[in-house]
Amino acid sequence: MSPVEIRPFEAGDLTACGALLAQRHRRQRLAQPLLSPRFEAPETAVAEVTAAFKAPDASGAVAIRAGVPVGFVLGAPKTSPLWGPNIWVEAAGQAATDAETMRDLYAAAATRWVDEGRTAHYVVVPADDQELVRAWFRLGFGQQHAHAVRPATKLDTKPLAQDLTVRRATRADIPDLARLDLELPTHQGLSPTFSAGRIGTVEESLADWADDIDNPEYATFVAVRDGTVIGSAIGCALEKSSSHLGPARPDNAGFLGYAAVFPPARGAGAGRALGTAVVDWAVDSGFDCVVTDWRVTNLLSSRTWPRLGFTETFLRLHRTIGY
Ligand SMILES: CC(C)(COP(=O)(O)OP(=O)(O)OC[C@H]1O[C@@H](n2cnc3c(N)ncnc32)[C@H](O)[C@@H]1OP(=O)(O)O)[C@@H](O)C(=O)NCCC(=O)NCCS
Repeated sequence: MSPVEIRPFEAGDLTACGALLAQRHRRQRLAQPLLSPRFEAPETAVAEVTAAFKAPDASGAVAIRAGVPVGFVLGAPKTSPLWGPNIWVEAAGQAATDAETMRDLYAAAATRWVDEGRTAHYVVVPADDQELVRAWFRLGFGQQHAHAVRPATKLDTKPLAQDLTVRRATRADIPDLARLDLELPTHQGLSPTFSAGRIGTVEESLADWADDIDNPEYATFVAVRDGTVIGSAIGCALEKSSSHLGPARPDNAGFLGYAAVFPPARGAGAGRALGTAVVDWAVDSGFDCVVTDWRVTNLLSSRTWPRLGFTETFLRLHRTIGY
């Protein structure tokens, strides 16, 4: 095989690298057909790679064999302080005909990223591509997050515990909804996730809910046991999410955007009942599939959502440089 040349990504690489992305997506859809067929079209894939290339401060590398691009990686920083001094390779930011080449591409691109002081690296990788995932693992990355999808079909309902019900939330539930908003960041601040982000206050949540409770674009459910609200979940269209971008965004998808159960009530079926309510809402609303995501270090959500039939589409891998 002729040797591979690695050089910085240039505008002239967009068409060929878009074609590589389209091929990658075609392969991925054999395993995960709920992903959108749109990105199999070279022109759509080129548009995605172009957007990745034109993102502020984007940079990357391309691999050339016998004059033909055979792989690329493109990253750009996010401005939120949540991610540290970061670079993100989003779902449209990489493809290679041979996974091993991705290690050369990263080596070249990361030189600049680290020179710029960007030492927190995030990369969104097709979940089914074992060789590509392994190539990233052998670059020091580990899994941080999972994106997942399930068909919009009613779940086989397990009978709920006798005293448990799930219903749409009303204005009277706002105090409980506000307290439940703090449960996810609080839980994710604990070991082994250690990723709380900013934990807001109950007062802020009360104000948000006062504005949003009647918003028809969100379907909010509460789980009630013995007359007491013990959990909540929110469904909406996937377009409302700032995550699940480009090839990671299935068409006409509902989104399980939030769920939390108060700690003493966990592990007794409320989470399943709430997730089921959102899936049923998505079916009744005419969505074709339902998307969600979770931190894989969150032992609770990472065990709950696969039980409701969600399967991984993309893995977010993470590496912190320096130690
Ligand atoms: C995630 C959460 C909403 C789930 O609610 P819950 O009431 O604890 O969940 P359930 O009791 O309904 O259990 C859900 C499923 O996970 C399974 N599960 C729970 N612990 C498990 C374990 N250790 N191993 C394997 N499966 C497990 C249960 O068996 C159940 O599946 P099943 O109904 O098919 O048996 C809740 O734990 C929570 O609030 N966690 C903190 C906040 C959070 O992480 N929110 C999710 C944001 S993505």
